[in-house]
Amino acid sequence: MNKLEDKQIQDRLKAKGNLPRHIAIIMDGNGRWARMRGLDRIEGHRAGRESVRDVVRACGELGIEVLTLYAFSVENWRRPRREVWALMRLLRDTLYEEVEELDRNNVRLIAIGRLDELPKTSREALFWAMKRTKDNTGLMLNLALNYGGRVEIVDAVRRILEGGYRPEDVDEAVFSAHLYTAGLPDPDLLIRTSGELRVSNFLLWQMAYTEIWVTDVLWPDFRRKHLYQAIEAYQRRERRFGMTSEQLRRGDGGGR
Ligand code: FPP
Repeated sequence: MNKLEDKQIQDRLKAKGNLPRHIAIIMDGNGRWARMRGLDRIEGHRAGRESVRDVVRACGELGIEVLTLYAFSVENWRRPRREVWALMRLLRDTLYEEVEELDRNNVRLIAIGRLDELPKTSREALFWAMKRTKDNTGLMLNLALNYGGRVEIVDAVRRILEGGYRPEDVDEAVFSAHLYTAGLPDPDLLIRTSGELRVSNFLLWQMAYTEIWVTDVLWPDFRRKHLYQAIEAYQRRERRFGMTSEQLRRGDGGGR
């Protein structure tokens, strides 16, 4: 795709007016991509960085508010030690290498997960990059690291109890404000690569009304053209939030 075609597609998506505010991605298939080429799994993760780069740039250009990437789950510690450490090193090196461009493109880096349990050098790189980009006002690039939807809910409950709330004062808004994603809009669109039809403990609370788009493309092969396909599919869907199509067309907010 050349620059002109790219711009035309972006303009078309923007003109429709209902771009997702928040896109979340489960970047799956790095291992399979590597195995198909007779390479080490780690090479799949390394190749996946180019997909991250392209998608981050495209989301920034489109004016998407938040892009959340599932980079490391609480379950991923169970992988072979070598792979876990290679992923942590890759994360650290990528942050140091990419922060310059992120900053230039007005991207603000944030992260969700049990960040204090990350290895020291990866954590330092992460906090350094977040500090460096904290005043940027463009795309929020949100990395889910040592993240699990269930532990996030457990952590929220703990913080609510520590805050001394009375049961009758806890409602959905209070609960949301104690999640790692406090202040962020819920994801409108979830993209999952490599054909798996699972949510895999990702943003469980936040995904209540998220539209899901799955592709067989493996993450290292995923590029902006696939992102555009996902957004186009999203824009064609009708999000009813429990209402009927007729109510939506009338613009009425429901019976309550
Ligand atoms: C899943 O593929 C991918 C991961 C667990 C890691 C994702 C990490 C990156 C793309 C590295 C770069 C990212 C950043 C943000 C620096 P898999 O290994 O589960 O694939 P498989 O299902 O084919 O085995």
